[in-house]
Parts: sequence; structure tokens; C-alpha cells
Amino acid sequence: MDRESELAIVRRAYAKQVMAAAGVADRRIEAAFAAVRREAFLGPGPWPIVRWGRGYMTTPSGDPVYLYADVLVGIIPERDLNNGLPSFLAALIASGGPCAGEHAVHIGAGIGYYTAIIAHLVGRAGRVTAIEYDPVLADRLAANFAGQRHVRVLEGDGARAEFATADVIFVNAGATRPADSWLDRLTEGGRLILPLTTDKGFHGSETIPLDRRGAVFRIARSGDEFRARWISPVAIFPCEGARDPASEAVLAAAFANGRWKEVTRLYRRGDLPEEQCWLRAPGWCLAYR
Ligand SMILES: C[S@@+](CC[C@H](N)C(=O)[O-])C[C@H]1O[C@@H](n2cnc3c(N)ncnc32)[C@H](O)[C@@H]1O
Repeated sequence: MDRESELAIVRRAYAKQVMAAAGVADRRIEAAFAAVRREAFLGPGPWPIVRWGRGYMTTPSGDPVYLYADVLVGIIPERDLNNGLPSFLAALIASGGPCAGEHAVHIGAGIGYYTAIIAHLVGRAGRVTAIEYDPVLADRLAANFAGQRHVRVLEGDGARAEFATADVIFVNAGATRPADSWLDRLTEGGRLILPLTTDKGFHGSETIPLDRRGAVFRIARSGDEFRARWISPVAIFPCEGARDPASEAVLAAAFANGRWKEVTRLYRRGDLPEEQCWLRAPGWCLAYR
């Protein structure tokens, strides 16, 4: 058997393990993880892999088999900027539910491995806009999708970049508030996958439990209403352009109060009664009803 056929079998086993770890049963997403070659995006190995409690450890060789595990792979280890955990991203992608033919926007695309998974799900009839803030990574991202006309790569701040209305927007970095453009540009029925993190939500103190440092919310548009629900705790690289000290303070206070799982609505106004809100900030709220 040739090496590519061997790796295709390894990837099928990896995809099954990722889905099990994510608690997701979705054959389309499993097929996407089985199809996309992680090494094609990360470049040649050996690769730095996060081994819990031991920091980054370099793989023994450049054999791609080391990438097909539920592991974080360093992209810029000096900045703790990693290719995210497959099971975590699988769960977020499942929550966003990109369908064939849809327009997906991926903010914080890095070098594009998960962009490619999303692109696989929307297919050739759909399209992906991938936005990356770091210019060096944005160059690598553009090179990784050269010639693929259904993936458009933009360098810049995803909170300010121009993009067409989207059926699903995946933010892959920690914000303290939703950018207006993310809410404005959701289609009817569109979904926004939004990690909200406190300043302890990346290099956080271990004394604060993970679920009090950050959370991913799913926001779905229905007319002028936005339904919201908690998906998971998160610690993630900060989102430049979607963080400010005032909204961080409100977020930190909300996490200290608990009850994030009771959130059902996002409102684009800040004048709701306090007892209705998990988080009440100038111009927006996450509320219980
Ligand atoms: C946690 S990393 C994820 C990278 C990629 N999704 C992956 O898993 O390989 C977050 C990425 O978001 C990028 N980023 C941060 N703020 C951004 C913004 N405002 N717009 C676009 N990208 C941003 C960072 O440069 C970084 O590459």
C-alpha cells in the first residue's frame, strides 16, 4: 500500500476519534476530517505539539501520522498560537452547521486547516471567506488556498473587514463583545459562533476555573431577534479589534455570577432590566429571556 493510502486510513480512524471526543455524530463532519490533510496546511514537520504539563514537544519526525491525534499543534509557539484542538473545533463546526451551498466566514483562520474543513462542508456550490489578522499567517493562508475559487482569503481585522452576508460566521479567537458587523451580516437563520473571553481567558490563572474565564456562544438570527445559547467553556488566543477594557469588565463580572447556561437571547440594546440579563453592556445584552 502506498503512503497516501495508508495515511487516508489513519485519517479515517482520527476522524472517528475526533467525533467521539467532541460528542458529535455527524457523518458529513466526520467525512471532512477524514478527507482534509492537516500536514498540507501546517507545512513540513517535525511539528511542535502541546503535551499537557510538558509544554511543546517536537514530534520524533516529520511523519504526518503524529498530526492525526486530538492535539494542539504550534503554529507560532513563542506566542502560544496553535492550530486548535480537533475535537473542540469539530464541536464548534457542528454547532454552526455549515451546509452545502452556504457562505461561511472564518475569522482567525490561521493557516487554514479548519477553513478547509468548513470549505469541504459548504462544497463547491458554497464559499468561504477566511480572514486572518497576522500578515505572515495571512500569506501562508492565501498560499494554502491558491487556485481554490470558492475560498477567498483576506488579511486584516475580522471585526472590520468587508464581507458579504453570511449563513455562518465562525470566530476563532476570543472577543469581549460581538462586532456589529458580525450581527449585521448574518442572513435570516444565520449562525454566529462567538467565543467571549475575559483577560484571564488565554494565559489565565489556573486558580480561576476554565468555565469562568470564557465561553463560546451560538447566536442565531431570526428576523430582528437573536437567539443565544452557551456551547462550551473556552480558553483561546485573543481577537484583536473585538476586545476593550469596559466590555471585558462586564464580561468578567457576568462570569463571576455564574448562570451562563441560562442565556437564551442576545439583544442589541443595553436598557433591559438587570434581573433579565446575564450580561448587560452599553448597546447589547445576553439575557435569560
Ligand atoms: C487560536 S488561533 C486559531 C488559528 C486557526 N483557526 C487554527 O486553529 O489553526 C487565533 C487566530 O486568530 C487570529 N486573529 C486574532 N484576531 C483577529 C481578528 N480580529 N481578525 C482576524 N484574525 C484574528 C490570530 O492571528 C490567530 O491566527
